[in-house]
Amino acid sequence: MKLWSGRFSKDTDKTVDDFNSSIRFDCRMAKQDIKGSMAHAEMLGKCGVIPEEDAALIVKTLSEVWEDIKEGKVSFDPRAEDIHMFVEQELIKRIGDTGKKLHTGRSRNDQVALDIRMNLTDECKIIKEMILELMNNVLQTAKKHRETIMPGYTHLQRAQPITFGHHMMAYFQMFKRDLERLSDCVKRMDEMPLGSGALASTTYPLDRYYVAEKLGFSRITQNSMDAVSDRDFVIELASVLAIFMMHISRLSEEIILWATKEFSFIELDDAYSTGSSIMPQKKNPDVAELARGKTGRMYGNLMTLLSMMKSLPLAYNKDMQEDKEAIFDSIDTVKMCIPPFNGMLATMRIREDAMDEAVKTGFANATDLADYLTVKGVPFRVAHEITGKLVGYCTEKNLKIEDLDLPFLKSYSELIEEDIYQALKPETCVNRRNLPGGPAFDAVAEAISEAERYMDKASKKTE
Ligand code: ARG
Repeated sequence: MKLWSGRFSKDTDKTVDDFNSSIRFDCRMAKQDIKGSMAHAEMLGKCGVIPEEDAALIVKTLSEVWEDIKEGKVSFDPRAEDIHMFVEQELIKRIGDTGKKLHTGRSRNDQVALDIRMNLTDECKIIKEMILELMNNVLQTAKKHRETIMPGYTHLQRAQPITFGHHMMAYFQMFKRDLERLSDCVKRMDEMPLGSGALASTTYPLDRYYVAEKLGFSRITQNSMDAVSDRDFVIELASVLAIFMMHISRLSEEIILWATKEFSFIELDDAYSTGSSIMPQKKNPDVAELARGKTGRMYGNLMTLLSMMKSLPLAYNKDMQEDKEAIFDSIDTVKMCIPPFNGMLATMRIREDAMDEAVKTGFANATDLADYLTVKGVPFRVAHEITGKLVGYCTEKNLKIEDLDLPFLKSYSELIEEDIYQALKPETCVNRRNLPGGPAFDAVAEAISEAERYMDKASKKTE
């Protein structure tokens, strides 16, 4: 019999039961549901809404239910409508009428709002740790390759010399923002909704602050109708995780490109590559490809949540039950993706020779020639034009600028001197870009120190 069957004269149709039931996915909030119920029961006793001894028995029995679930002694009843009903049923099965007092002054609407906030907060803690590990990994790679020169690209065309360390530190910045977005999101989740009831709070003198403190929340929600119908934090988290995976997909794409024979900038470790069932020579970057591919479902989940909430009237509507599968999928995807991605990054071999070869061809030093002339008084636009002509000539003759002898260079500009050859070396090009945030060895060393300080602080915060 359903716990709400009082006003009904018939059973619900079997198809409706199946359609309505959410236990197959909301059972993963069992821990939070039970913790929330324990705090609620304790508060009911303390406020004199139910006898203190009843409250104590409810709390004790709920903790036994949780132990039994953990040990696999109790399995979720697929006929229970949702995790909230299941836990209550289990409680009533064990202590009868006393168990029926638990739901006083509470609705599943504020209950689910609590459970999902607590569950997502717990998950965010795990994901934060994982992102920190990824950042550390990226930082170590950057440190090792602070002086590994490679071409930087725009439009996927060789543009200017940079270092692999600088390139890695660009990703460090992205992941740092992801981490901060995640923390912001958790801050907004940190409001305790119990006491909002179905939508209009309740007639009992509940102590909402007591429950909030018991459950580790800093604040209580400020409006009962908003509290039961707000899923902004779910959307926000889906968005934060989608942006994170977008960053992962960009790094994945680069790894895939770099691992091609055409680039040969990196070689993936055997433990993080896969073979082909037909082509014996193949070594495929599946981890990076899958990570790139899974980014799609992250966007899908975000869109699901935004569309699900669109135009919903206040307050609770059953549509909102659809929030869980989408956000749980985003969480699971991220948690599944980071560990192999981390392993792949930490073990990939950097081919410094190939990077060096690439930076020396393709005129990555052309801007430096223009800058050389500009420093000598040529207006930049004119210097750009002269350099462009030289590049055109070299392209036709299949030469590098530095292959040309000084008299020939002088026929383009009298101001070019012997020191041009030094100026055009990739190492000079990189190290002259020594503004804060630039790729020069020293500038990257500074960025790395700053990042290390950040990591120190961040890991202390999550301890
Ligand atoms: N399973 C529901 C959900 O996930 C719980 C809240 C149900 N409330 C209700 N009045 N039917 O949203």
